[in-house]
Amino acid sequence: MNEIIIEAKGLKKIFQKENNVIEVLRGIDLKIKAGDFVTIMGPSGAGKSTLLHILGTLDKPTQGEIIFENRKIEKLTEEELATIRNEKIGFVFQFYHLLQDFSILENVSMPLLIRGMKRKEAELKAEKLLDLFGLSQRKNHRPQELSGGEQQRVAIARALVCEPRVIFADEPTGNLDRKTGTTIIDHFVYINEHFHTTIVIVTHDPEIGSLGKKKFKMLDGEIFPL
Ligand SMILES: Nc1ncnc2c1ncn2[C@@H]1O[C@H](COP(=O)(O)OP(=O)(O)O)[C@@H](O)[C@H]1O
Ligand SMILES: [Mg+2]
Repeated sequence: MNEIIIEAKGLKKIFQKENNVIEVLRGIDLKIKAGDFVTIMGPSGAGKSTLLHILGTLDKPTQGEIIFENRKIEKLTEEELATIRNEKIGFVFQFYHLLQDFSILENVSMPLLIRGMKRKEAELKAEKLLDLFGLSQRKNHRPQELSGGEQQRVAIARALVCEPRVIFADEPTGNLDRKTGTTIIDHFVYINEHFHTTIVIVTHDPEIGSLGKKKFKMLDGEIFPL
């Protein structure tokens, strides 16, 4: 049986603005096992991004807890959390979030440089991934010179370069045409199968949502297995 790497217990998230209280997550329970390929599908406003940020330790729940590799996130120091984020977790976003003033190679090497790896070693590792994703020829280009699909492949390479245990992707195909979007999903499938990286994708697109090996639906702050 696969180890549970992330568990959410009774997650609630409440946003309060003046007299306006919005309950965005209404008690989410979820177990993600090592090697899972999870898609969470739901309409805009369902709470998907909020949930993903909390699962990825970027945000804190109002109530409930996240257990990452058997450790309660709320009990960790900022330093321990930073280490988990850097070593265990990769993020991919809808609008790629690449650094525009840096080359593709620099973008993918960056997380390794931040970790203190020597430039040469970091670039070698980054180049291997760019090669794997068919982007070697583009390594000296800037992000804006690439198509949307290519930029997202760079973003995936960057998320993968530190060999995280889990990659969270927030609408990774939301800015792409369907065919390109499906290719991007194929990349996640490849990563899941070859590196056994756990993948968690949230999407408003039912077709992308249907591609998960474990599928969930999210509606008004609640989650349902499909
Ligand atoms: N920082 C915030 N402050 C107030 N409301 C927020 C905040 N973040 C999200 N929300 C609200 O929470 C709801 C869910 O947002 P979100 O998690 O982004 O949904 P989704 O990603 O499914 O579209 C929305 O109604 C949104 O307006
Ligand atoms: Mg969202």
